[in-house]
Amino acid sequence: MPSQLHPLEVNPTTGEPFLRLKSHNNIILTPPRLSDIAILPEYFNDSRVYGWLSSPPQPYLPEHAEQWIAKSKGETDNVLSALAAAETSEQLLTVDQVPVRAIREVREDGTEAFIGDMGILRTPYGELMGSEVDWEKKAGREKENATLPVGDPNIVWSIGFYLAPSHHGKGIMSDVLATVLHDWAIPRMCVRRLLCNVFVGNEGSMGVFRKNGFVLTRTIENHVEARGEKRSIHVYEWNA
Ligand SMILES: CC(C)(COP(=O)(O)OP(=O)(O)OC[C@H]1O[C@@H](n2cnc3c(N)ncnc32)[C@H](O)[C@@H]1OP(=O)(O)O)[C@@H](O)C(=O)NCCC(=O)NCCS
Repeated sequence: MPSQLHPLEVNPTTGEPFLRLKSHNNIILTPPRLSDIAILPEYFNDSRVYGWLSSPPQPYLPEHAEQWIAKSKGETDNVLSALAAAETSEQLLTVDQVPVRAIREVREDGTEAFIGDMGILRTPYGELMGSEVDWEKKAGREKENATLPVGDPNIVWSIGFYLAPSHHGKGIMSDVLATVLHDWAIPRMCVRRLLCNVFVGNEGSMGVFRKNGFVLTRTIENHVEARGEKRSIHVYEWNA
């Protein structure tokens, strides 16, 4: 009988599932934890992080962190429950979540520091799903994509990620994306199509996508508004 957590490992002390990065052996991915709430405001109030993101509120308050962890932990708890419930099944369950999205550095003394997050979700960029930007079709396309059944290879997915500024530029997020994509998203979620975007000028994020085989398909001027400023984007796509 296969373990439904395959290829995740399980911490023998805490019982928590985890996935170790391919190239950074001291970095693991786990479900979000309530203790992450305390550190999130530090990261999301740092312009080296929020300056490249449009969604986190600014200033980022403890209540925003509480809401975010409640949501993301709830989603990963649900998928872990579904996997546990299928433990006697002969076949591996296909799911629509990555249960290990929190990035943690394991220190020499065994303590773990929360250093970032990577999520994969059904695309919130319906306006980019055709060859031309179409805001009128955005909501309908996103709804249609959201109703495709779990495991449908036609689902269009998107990725969001950030890392603590202290850990930028060390190849960590490239490794996170490679590990999650090949060890979980492709085999366990049947992810086949990814549509992502980055603000023009975000060299680190562009590098992460480029190194993972994503193709730069379009650059769109003044596409989104973030904190009162219009931002241009590069669109990156990946197809299995
Ligand atoms: C974007 C981010 C996640 C990148 O993670 P990272 O671990 O620093 O990226 P990597 O170290 O894996 O770098 C990937 C590539 O980009 C290059 N790169 C990284 N930072 C760079 C920078 N500031 N300028 C130029 N190139 C950069 C790296 O050199 C690497 O390419 P190489 O291996 O060919 O040299 C991180 O910078 C971050 O959290 N930024 C703030 C939030 C954010 O931008 N999120 C993404 C929104 S789309």
